Amino acid sequence: MTPSQGLAPPPRFWRSLAFRLSAGYALAGFVLVSLAAASLYFMLLSGLERSTDEFLADKLHVLRTMLRERPDDLDGLREEIELESAARRYEHFYIRLLDEKGDPLLTTPDMAEEVDLTQFARETQGTPERTIPVKGSHGQSFRIAKAQAQVGTVGSHSDTIQIAIDVSQQEKLLARFRLWFWSILLATSAVFPVVGYFLARHGTRPMEEIAATARRISSTNLKERIDAEGFPLELSSLAGTFNKMLDRLQESFERISRFSADIAHDLRTPVNNIRGEAEVALARARTVDEYREVLESSLEESVRLSDLIGNLLFLARTESPLVHLRWEQVNVTELLEGLREYYEAPALEAGISLRTRAGGGPVVARLDRILMQRAVDNLISNAIVHTPPGGTVELATCIEGAIIRIDVRDTGAGIPAEALPKVFDRFFRVDPSRSQASGGTGLGLAIVQGIVSLHGGSAEITSQPGLGTTVTLRIHRNATS
Ligand SMILES: Nc1ncnc2c1ncn2[C@@H]1O[C@H](COP(=O)(O)OP(=O)(O)OP(=O)(O)O)[C@@H](O)[C@H]1O
Ligand SMILES: [Mg+2]
Repeated sequence: MTPSQGLAPPPRFWRSLAFRLSAGYALAGFVLVSLAAASLYFMLLSGLERSTDEFLADKLHVLRTMLRERPDDLDGLREEIELESAARRYEHFYIRLLDEKGDPLLTTPDMAEEVDLTQFARETQGTPERTIPVKGSHGQSFRIAKAQAQVGTVGSHSDTIQIAIDVSQQEKLLARFRLWFWSILLATSAVFPVVGYFLARHGTRPMEEIAATARRISSTNLKERIDAEGFPLELSSLAGTFNKMLDRLQESFERISRFSADIAHDLRTPVNNIRGEAEVALARARTVDEYREVLESSLEESVRLSDLIGNLLFLARTESPLVHLRWEQVNVTELLEGLREYYEAPALEAGISLRTRAGGGPVVARLDRILMQRAVDNLISNAIVHTPPGGTVELATCIEGAIIRIDVRDTGAGIPAEALPKVFDRFFRVDPSRSQASGGTGLGLAIVQGIVSLHGGSAEITSQPGLGTTVTLRIHRNATS
């Protein structure tokens, strides 16, 4: 058990995505509702204040006009004011007119009762025509203002108008609004986190399904797939990527298990042969020649076995990320010429014409000479094995920009189209019985591909049954991996 398995701390709720999403959702909702309600409140407040101020300004204007036009008609003035004030159900207003000395000339009924007149004078001192909020004698809310009014038109003096308007109804409206505001805010704080949590849980459920599927997967159970039906777009693409990864894993696992079965099979055949021959030989007394024959056959099988094991080890090495290549400048034209000379005798024996095609000058590239020699060697031996007498095997190399290209072309039996995509697979043989007889293990082309991949290049095969096969290797001229 690893430490992380044994001592993993229990997941903390506040670290969960559901918590973070719902907290963010609740906070955003809270801020939004607060901002909306606060701006509504302040709009209402300033609207009410403005309409009160306008009303007061309006009244002052009427009173001033009357005082200017009819300075002696105080009774008419009083009547006018009382009529208007009485006509208002709410927002009663009160007016007091003071002469130059500050003695009251006219006061609307109840004004002295409702408003503290000394406070009035104190509050409005030095702030003419500005409305000021004050509390009335019975706790009501007032807005008060003071203004000078010219009496008569010529050589006139001015009186002071004191005006107060009862804004208690407005205050009640604002208080109701504040109550509504706090209630909504309270409800938001309670409802948003819950709704946010359920939304987040609902949104993250597909992830739990992905995790559950991942938990069910093991090397023996790679058939599990995520059913992304109904998933949100982002997660269905994640599920699709995950499923594709599982496809690749499953394919790799199947290839590996096929490979193991093939190894076992290919190792068993020569071992069984050696064993069978030894058992038969030991069943009774044999002549020296018979023993020699058995030993020769055993040696042949042992060579096959050791070749197979050698090839497998070599393949495993080509796949290791730690493999070291001995990079050097290699004259590929010379390398092909050397191999042609090496295979001259066996080709002659098989009745095959083996030749190199002269390109337009030497082809030089940075390669691992030994490995590349081995790759081309495998291709030539394949070509010779599968080309009937009278045929031709041609080796060619040329430069294509930054790439060097090596072709091994034969006029042999060719490979059926359906087998072509598999010839680079390990242990694949088009005709296993024929290859078995010729000693082929089916690893030659896999090794070629491994070597070319180590050079960062590619191997390609084209073939026409009955006409011949061409294998093309392409490698970067200055490849370092
Ligand atoms: N030039 C070719 N012409 C026709 N068939 C070929 C040619 N090269 C390869 N093949 C086919 O591809 C199969 C795989 O080739 P590969 O070199 O990997 O294995 P092998 O030659 O059978 O065994 P090994 O190379 O390990 O001794 C061969 O068995 C053969 O059927
Ligand atoms: Mg081969």
